[in-house]
Amino acid sequence: MERMVEIEKFSADEVVENTLRPDGWSDYIGQEKIKKNLGVFIEASKKRAESLDHVLFYGPPGLGKTTLALIIANEMGTNIKVTAAPMIEKSGDLAAILTNLEEGDILFIDEIHRLSPAVEEILYPSMEDFRLDIIIGSGPAAQTVKIDLPRFTLIGATTRAGMLSNPLRDRFGMSFRMNFYTNDELSRIVELASKKLSKPIEKNASFEIARRSRGTPRIALRLLKRVRDFADVADEDEIVHQRTQFALNELGINAHGFDEMDVRLLELLVHAKGRAMGLSTIAAALSEDEGTVEDVLEPYLLANGFLERTARGRIATPKTYEILKFTLPSQQESLFK
Ligand SMILES: Nc1ncnc2c1ncn2[C@@H]1O[C@H](COP(=O)(O)OP(=O)(O)O)[C@@H](O)[C@H]1O
Ligand SMILES: [Mg+2]
Repeated sequence: MERMVEIEKFSADEVVENTLRPDGWSDYIGQEKIKKNLGVFIEASKKRAESLDHVLFYGPPGLGKTTLALIIANEMGTNIKVTAAPMIEKSGDLAAILTNLEEGDILFIDEIHRLSPAVEEILYPSMEDFRLDIIIGSGPAAQTVKIDLPRFTLIGATTRAGMLSNPLRDRFGMSFRMNFYTNDELSRIVELASKKLSKPIEKNASFEIARRSRGTPRIALRLLKRVRDFADVADEDEIVHQRTQFALNELGINAHGFDEMDVRLLELLVHAKGRAMGLSTIAAALSEDEGTVEDVLEPYLLANGFLERTARGRIATPKTYEILKFTLPSQQESLFK
């Protein structure tokens, strides 16, 4: 099934994503607190001619973590090496990456929660003391060789902050939680992107896309691209509101920005008729792992009041019953009074 939030299945879109990626603060919209703080830290470390402290970004997919890492490198004027935890299988893989870094370089590790314990073991001293401890041989003859590393900055990104081990988390000097974007911010992102695509868009059309984008720039840009196809086929020089509505309906994009997984989760809860559902039950019913349900699926629904976490489990809110056209069970009514 096609999930809008998964990168892997959208290689053609990924290319567009890269052309639309902001390369400086000026076209990185929203996340004001993060921008302000990072701006200060970047300036300070540049003044002191030091490398930036290690940074961790966490939050749901598509909210701009990778983009921030690239902007930091741009602002610091340093090289950035981009990799992802699943590509670092053995401790030797990481050792090779680290020893190839130069003074001041940035190493970006995506999905950093997926590093194996053995690789993490190597990472700790590297982050802390810029030193690599390699064990050569085994048994009583084993020897530890220490190699000095250049001072580098590690930027980690994860959708699953809860899965990071404590020692790893503690070694980041700064960590930032990404927030969902407002419709205003998303429509601004859509407008900027349509300029880059040389296809102007009406104000209310960009808002229409924003409203249906699950608070997520990656989804907004993807929808923009598809709506642009409709406009191109209709020989329209501008993306107008009516064409946008038509295209989004045609694509089956939900008016609340839900994707198919959101709908399945909410329907589960609504069918439970007011009984709270535990995380493990939900995960099993959706054939997803608990972490994905909790860290990828639920945050948007929680932030927008479509579901609630209670001591006994998850319940749908009255708003969700209304949207899915289900009658609110009477015991739930009293719960929300
Ligand atoms: N704040 C933002 N302003 C403008 N575009 C953004 C912003 N955040 C993300 N994007 C765009 O959304 C897409 C996904 O962002 P990305 O950094 O890859 O997300 P993540 O790494 O968190 O999954 C990129 O094409 C990027 O250009
Ligand atoms: Mg990313």
